[in-house]
Amino acid sequence: VTILVIYGTIEGHTAKIAREIATRIEQAGHQVVLTDAREPGYAVPGTFDAVIVCGSIHYGRYPEPIVQFAKSFKDALNNAPSALVTVSLAAASEYEDERQEASAHAYHLSKATGWVPNIHHSAAGAIKFLEFSYFKRLIARHISAYTGGPLDDGQDYELTDWPKLNEFVSEMLTFTFTNRLMPVSQ
Ligand SMILES: Cc1cc2nc3c(=O)[nH]c(=O)nc-3n(C[C@H](O)[C@H](O)[C@H](O)COP(=O)(O)O)c2cc1C
Repeated sequence: VTILVIYGTIEGHTAKIAREIATRIEQAGHQVVLTDAREPGYAVPGTFDAVIVCGSIHYGRYPEPIVQFAKSFKDALNNAPSALVTVSLAAASEYEDERQEASAHAYHLSKATGWVPNIHHSAAGAIKFLEFSYFKRLIARHISAYTGGPLDDGQDYELTDWPKLNEFVSEMLTFTFTNRLMPVSQ
């Protein structure tokens, strides 16, 4: 099978997550097309066996290219096995309600675009305080406090649970194969 992995990133961590997903799919013996949503090229859903869309959350929103992609291709996305990976700080929170807030973003994306993914994975992101300018660091620290993230802005954090991400990839591959063998609509 050939799977499209398309990502929207602001600071680059979602690109890293998408690369890891692509690597796992290849290791499982399948083909992958990995694309930045800002330059989708020939990444047209409908020509792939499954699509995995990855996007990070900034100020409660997915990157605009992800929203546009989901809107433009909602029918093709709804007709193939599809998954959404949401990358946020709230996903790493020790508080259940904040973790649920991370999942709520997926629901709002569906409402806004008409695309309903079969599987949603909420992944904890990274926060690279040291790479930010003074003002961005202040803002990021504020956001981090608000979303239950780390507070010490004297270091970088990578909170992604990679084994859990791999579990998601296995789940998505299983779903894709089950769906190809027994299409839901029949
Ligand atoms: C300016 C800024 C705003 C953010 N806003 C949110 C937010 O509203 N909710 C949240 O859970 N995480 C928020 N985050 C955390 C990001 O989702 C996290 O850093 C993620 O790893 C970024 O992924 P990217 O590098 O692919 O853009 C924010 C981070 C920054 C720097």
